[in-house]
Amino acid sequence: MFKIAVLNRIAPIGLGNLDREKYEISDDLENPDAILVRSTNLLDMEFPDSLKAIARAGAGVNNIPVDRCSQRGIVVFNTPGANANAVKELAVAALLLTSRDIIGGVNWVHGLPLDSDIIKEVESGKGRFVGPELYGKKLGVFGLGAIGALVANIATELGMKVYGNDPYLTVDGAWRLNHSVRRAASMDTIFENCDYIALHVPSTPETKGFINAQSLAAMKDGVRIINLSRGDLVNDRDMAAALESGKVACYLTDFPSAEILGMKNVIAIPHLGASTPESEDNCAIMAVNELIDYLENGNIRNSVNFPEVINRKHGDESICIIHYNVPNMLAQISGALSAEGLNIENLSSRSKKDMAYSVFEVAGSCPQPVVERLSRAQGIIRVNVIKNR
Ligand code: MLT
Repeated sequence: MFKIAVLNRIAPIGLGNLDREKYEISDDLENPDAILVRSTNLLDMEFPDSLKAIARAGAGVNNIPVDRCSQRGIVVFNTPGANANAVKELAVAALLLTSRDIIGGVNWVHGLPLDSDIIKEVESGKGRFVGPELYGKKLGVFGLGAIGALVANIATELGMKVYGNDPYLTVDGAWRLNHSVRRAASMDTIFENCDYIALHVPSTPETKGFINAQSLAAMKDGVRIINLSRGDLVNDRDMAAALESGKVACYLTDFPSAEILGMKNVIAIPHLGASTPESEDNCAIMAVNELIDYLENGNIRNSVNFPEVINRKHGDESICIIHYNVPNMLAQISGALSAEGLNIENLSSRSKKDMAYSVFEVAGSCPQPVVERLSRAQGIIRVNVIKNR
């Protein structure tokens, strides 16, 4: 029986994939095999030795101590693309809301005295809510992953000239892009040219605060900035100053802070990017399936801290080993298995930065003392044996 700690509301359609004969689901953290999480902050949480995996139903993993998990051999999964359409649709709304003062106009019209001549008031008052069209304007998109690519593409459909910047753009990512999306080789190309800037990068030490006094100064006057990604990408104090001076005509953020909330020309949304039933279902299904596949089959797909490795199940048992990406690990492990007379039928091994995951599919059964010896060997963090037949 596997124990899964579910720390937020995860859509029932995803939890329904967990066979209750094999999985116990609870919200307590006593010796879980895995955690399913959406927004709970796990950064300061102590993890028990039983914990093998954490799946985040969402793209960002800044509520999870990923480096600490790696050192403990805890595989962290996310659900790339599962909520991309929801965020893309909110981005379309954001482009329109930052251009046309729809919110100001709506608030004003709802406040009109009901006994006034509403039609006359509307026609005489509407002039102050004028805003520019998107058509023909330049949009810069930072980050061309699953979400950024959809935003870039739909903006071209709206007639915008789109520039994309992503130092980590993959070949698949490039294929997803509409051919008219231009490559901005440097961030400055976007800062200097674009009327609208949309942020779709994760929060990392590299990206934190990259919208700051210096980058804001490099932008066009009257730029409109959309942040549906993470609050800490933007230095809110510098943003407040840029709003005050009029450098930024409008800042729409899904991550309001006290520094920003009082400012004029801020549109603050309560983190609704992925809040659609469709996206919550997609994320839940993907996160749950990733956990099942890892716990039952040893497969890693969509992990942010370990490489993708698939257990082909060619042998009787698969010895799944999380280890550091250092010399001699495979020789050491295969030596220990061969010494027991175990034939390695298939070996899959890949690394991601300092970490590696290797699956040794063997004929026969690995004796428990050997598993324990391997678990204690230098460079090895965790060993998990999966019976294939
Ligand atoms: C994400 O990282 O994809 C979103 O923050 C998901 C969410 O709203 O929970």
